[in-house]
Amino acid sequence: MEVLETKFVKDFIKMCNDGWEQGWHERNGGNLSYRIKESEIAQISGKLNLDSEWKDIGTSVPGLKGEYFLVTGSGKYFRNVILDPEDSICIVRVDDKGEKYQICWGLVNGGRPTSELPSHLMNHEVKKRVTNGKHRVIYHAHCTNLIALTFVLPLEDKVFTKELWESATECPVVFPDGVGVVDWMVPGGRDIAVATSKLMEKYDVAIWAHHGVFGSGEDFDLTFGLVHTVEKAAEILVKVRSMANSKLQTITSDDFRKLAKDFGVTLPEEFLQ
Ligand code: 13P
Ligand code: ZN
Repeated sequence: MEVLETKFVKDFIKMCNDGWEQGWHERNGGNLSYRIKESEIAQISGKLNLDSEWKDIGTSVPGLKGEYFLVTGSGKYFRNVILDPEDSICIVRVDDKGEKYQICWGLVNGGRPTSELPSHLMNHEVKKRVTNGKHRVIYHAHCTNLIALTFVLPLEDKVFTKELWESATECPVVFPDGVGVVDWMVPGGRDIAVATSKLMEKYDVAIWAHHGVFGSGEDFDLTFGLVHTVEKAAEILVKVRSMANSKLQTITSDDFRKLAKDFGVTLPEEFLQ
C-alpha cells in the first residue's frame, strides 16, 4: 500500500488542515505527531527506508524504543501539508535505546522532523505509560485566545482550569483533569520537554505561556476536539473579560459537582475550592 493511501496518513493530513483553517498555524507554527500502530506499519513496510542515518533526538525516551511516528517537518507550513504531504511530513523510527531517530519516509526535499520532537516524544512516552498505550496523538498549536490569556491570568494550573471550565458548561466533561501551565521557556529543547511531559502525567492539555498549547489524545478527532474545546473556552473568556471587569454570574463549584455526578466524570476537588 502507498503511504499516502493509508487511513492514518489521510487523517493526519486532514487534522493539519483543520488546524490551519482555524488560524492556529501561521507560517510554520505548530506541529503534530502520531504514534503509528504495528498493524499500520505492516501495511507500508515495503515503502519505508530503514537504512537512513540515525540522528540524536536530544533527549532520552526508552519507553518508545522501536516505535514509529508520523510527524510534521521543522519549518514546514501546516498550510502546505494537504498540498504537498511528502515535502511536509515524515515517518521516523526511534532506535533501541530511545536516543536516536531515523527518517524512514517523507521530507523528500530534505529537512528534519519538528524542532519540538523532544517535547512530542517525551509527552508520548508519558502518555503511552499512563494510558496503557491508548493515547497516540500529540498536537502543538498556536491558539490565539489561549496565548492571549497567558498575559492576563496568573500562570497557575488551578486558575486556568477554573476559568476555562466556567467558560462553557461542557468543558469539565471534555477535560475533567484540568489543564497545566508551563511558564515562558525557550522552545525546541529538552528543558521545555521535561516541564511539559511532567504536566502530561496529570493533564491532557499543557499551555505554554506566550506561545501555544500541547494536547494529547487517543486519536485525531479526540485530540483536535480537545484543543478546539479548550481554545473556544479561551475565546469566550477573552470576550467576557473584554466586556466587563468581573462576571455578573457564572457556573459555581456546586454546579460543577452536580454536572460531574450526572455526566459520570470525576473533577479534582483541588479545582473546586
Ligand atoms: P517547527 O517548524 O520546528 O515544528 O516549529 C514550530 C513551532 O511551533 C515551534 O514551537
Ligand atoms: Zn510553537
